[in-house]
Amino acid sequence: MRVLVLGKGGREHAIVKALSFSQRVTEVHCAPGSEGMKKDSFIHNIDLNNLDELKTFVQSKSIDLVVIGPEEWLVKGLTDHLKSWGVKVFGPSQNGAHLEESKVFAKEFMAKAGVPTARFEVVKSVQETLSAAEKFSPPYVFKVDGLAAGKGVSICKNLDELKVAAKNSFETKIFGASGDSALLEEFQPGWELSFLILTNGKEYQALPLAQDHKALLEGGLGPNTGGMGVVTPIKINEELLSNIHNQILKPSVAQLEKESIDYCGVLFVGLMVTEEGPKVIEYNVRFGDPETQTILPLLDGDWGDVFYDISQGVVKPLAWKPQFVSCVVIAAENYPGTPVKGQLISEELNIGSAFSYLLHAGTKKDEKNRWVTNGGRVLNAIGVGASHEESLENAYQLVDRVKWQGAQVRRDIGNGIKKLTN
Ligand code: AMP
Ligand code: GLY
Repeated sequence: MRVLVLGKGGREHAIVKALSFSQRVTEVHCAPGSEGMKKDSFIHNIDLNNLDELKTFVQSKSIDLVVIGPEEWLVKGLTDHLKSWGVKVFGPSQNGAHLEESKVFAKEFMAKAGVPTARFEVVKSVQETLSAAEKFSPPYVFKVDGLAAGKGVSICKNLDELKVAAKNSFETKIFGASGDSALLEEFQPGWELSFLILTNGKEYQALPLAQDHKALLEGGLGPNTGGMGVVTPIKINEELLSNIHNQILKPSVAQLEKESIDYCGVLFVGLMVTEEGPKVIEYNVRFGDPETQTILPLLDGDWGDVFYDISQGVVKPLAWKPQFVSCVVIAAENYPGTPVKGQLISEELNIGSAFSYLLHAGTKKDEKNRWVTNGGRVLNAIGVGASHEESLENAYQLVDRVKWQGAQVRRDIGNGIKKLTN
């Protein structure tokens, strides 16, 4: 089977690496991919906005299955196009991708499914936002409706901050059309959990639970990022687990079926575990980044088989290795703002072992063939071990070897685990 993975970040590197171990997969291709993935796949500089170019490529390479990484291509309906050309796809249809494309759509979907989530109002102007704020108390959660590369959520301590967030969205239009409407949402104190399931839109299989660390700085401080590190698997008590299945996952998948949404892929349910029980913060219609980097190595099986089965609407039970995997993100200077690109990375990156390795998220080779930074999240240090602690040690060992001007790392990834498991 020849597989094409779409995307270019650490998540996609994890996917191509997992597929490179597959018995079933004979060729792994990635587009656009990056230099750092060349060890594990053939990379191709295809313009994914050009459907003719993509169609010619998949036909000329006899691609059997496409695995779509980022939401962007799902929202643009690539699944539907690829399927119409006879290619199998792991990833939901454009209809399914609305769950991530629009936070208002997702909230309406949750309401129909009866899934617990924070109380909200839809707002379309600064004035509407400030009036709606009378029904909430601080901190206020302001979320632009559309895609915003993980930057569309503002947690506002007071009305002044809320006004700034609303002005940025509705007047300065920093998110373009994505910010034409927004949600004002009740703040939910609690702890976050990334719960990913593989589904055919009728049945599902849970993946190991992961905990991301979204804030840039240690102790959960600083601006929100796409994720600075993940530990997997997270064990939670049986009662909470069964509540999540019964109150959230089963009704969400049942609603996909009720609405006849063609959904063969992964559904990422972002949860906040509050004193009132688990609540949905968001749906993502793709794998998490960096959750994927830690979840995929845990499968006791062949990802080629799993992606193929799901693309065909077949959900089979999955087995998991009794291991722990951690990921520590090394980010560029100024991330999550505009990252500084082109900084020389100190170490030849072909280092590590099966228990301690690097995935490329935003690197490239310069004209002298040296690795330089080329994105916000630059490298993912992955550690595998017999405990959370061991996996984190293995990840941090690599972090300590790789250096560049302004590199940003959180040193407290996994520190919250003890609190959760006690
Ligand atoms: P989202 O893009 O919806 O996942 O939101 C980004 C981050 O903002 C989440 O991972 C949470 O840390 C935080 N967040 C979003 N909604 C809420 C909420 N209602 N209460 C507290 N924190 C939230
Ligand atoms: N790590 C969070 C996300 O992928 O959205």
